[in-house]
Amino acid sequence: MTAADAIEVVGEDFFTDPHTYHERWRAGGPVHRVLLPEGWAGWVIIGYSEARAALSDPRLSRSPALIKDAVEAKGGTAYVGDANNILTAHMLASDPPDHTRLRHLVSKEFTSRRIAALRPRIEQITAGLVDAMASRADEPIDLIEEFAFPLPVSVICELLGVPYADRDRFRAWSHTLVGGPGTIEDRQAAGFAMATFLQELIAAKRANPGSDLLSALAVQSDGDRLTELELLSMAFLLLVAGHETTVNLIANGTYALLRDRDRYAELLSAPAAHASAAVEELLRHSGPVNWALTRVTTAPLTIGDKEIPAGEIVFIALSAANRDPDRFASPAIVEIDRDTGGHLAFGHGIHYCLGAPLARLEGQIAFTALLERFPDITLAEPAFEPQWRPGFLIHGMENLPVRLTKR
Ligand code: HEM
Repeated sequence: MTAADAIEVVGEDFFTDPHTYHERWRAGGPVHRVLLPEGWAGWVIIGYSEARAALSDPRLSRSPALIKDAVEAKGGTAYVGDANNILTAHMLASDPPDHTRLRHLVSKEFTSRRIAALRPRIEQITAGLVDAMASRADEPIDLIEEFAFPLPVSVICELLGVPYADRDRFRAWSHTLVGGPGTIEDRQAAGFAMATFLQELIAAKRANPGSDLLSALAVQSDGDRLTELELLSMAFLLLVAGHETTVNLIANGTYALLRDRDRYAELLSAPAAHASAAVEELLRHSGPVNWALTRVTTAPLTIGDKEIPAGEIVFIALSAANRDPDRFASPAIVEIDRDTGGHLAFGHGIHYCLGAPLARLEGQIAFTALLERFPDITLAEPAFEPQWRPGFLIHGMENLPVRLTKR
């Protein structure tokens, strides 16, 4: 760290338009010192190759205890999990060897066969939602409430064996926990409520196992298995990761397409044939994860042109890396046939998204159904500007009012 490393102060307006911040910083290099609204001081990586390298650098730790120490050492306040570690004993909050073991135990159940087998059910859920929307086709509707939220949440609930009827409760806890307005006390209360809810659910699964993933994890018996705490924490991770993200792939992606009628027309010419490429490009262009989860340096390291001491907080801006012009030409433009290989919307390295195959499948089915059924869909108001949710992790809007048919 040198005196020349000026600190960029990040304000609340970042959430409305992270790309403007990222582009302003880009001329000054791939790595910057930043101070966030909650008093967190650290470094943000915005360059593609530096971000990709950082995501697989073992000197960047995800340990909640080390992160808390580093935040507090600089005068910030941190809620990175409760004292009993209930919601942080999972793979995304651990380093090897714990991470390796936890990921292996879940991957055994989260197989590509289990995911592929979900296709007919995802198509059925999608068709049901699309039919329900069609019956209200002459009024403006909120696409998030009617489609982008219920689709992935129904799927994750069925996959895990969580009652869909409880969705409003865990949606509220999850929103509080992954960021957004609220105090540390609010987050603690939401964490406690979520933990109690999952604890009761797991006890019920153990007493009466079903064919769902949580039952399979709860009754794993051969050899190494998840402890009670790890199972609870894993259930939390899968539930939150499974519904905070795909909602925003569908909503952000639809918004990007509706802002650009030419791309929309291109996709409309053959929705199913273009679906896979479209999902990858929409993930790159307007992916649901803005900055990856916080890391901390366990040794001094050089990233780009910066020397970062040990014990420093590091943020990896996936959304900025995915718009690095050195990697993706004209990055702010949606180009369905561009080479999106290596985009970082699902992260990279050991924490690469476990749910990526499921998210891709859901995205492809969702966009295909939406476009095939509602080729005339438009924003309800042409000048609509989304209200973006606060938080550095998730890039998602509060609602997306659309009209499904021509007026
Ligand atoms: C479009 C949807 C999704 C996106 C963009 C996304 C993105 C990500 C990203 C960026 C990471 C790595 C974070 C980091 O390194 O800091 C991650 C990890 C993870 N995601 Fe996803 N995700 C999506 C959907 C899902 C779904 C549907 C599930 C599961 C049901 C899921 C489960 C996970 C898990 C378990 C991890 C942790 C992996 C590990 O630590 O080894 N994700 N996701």
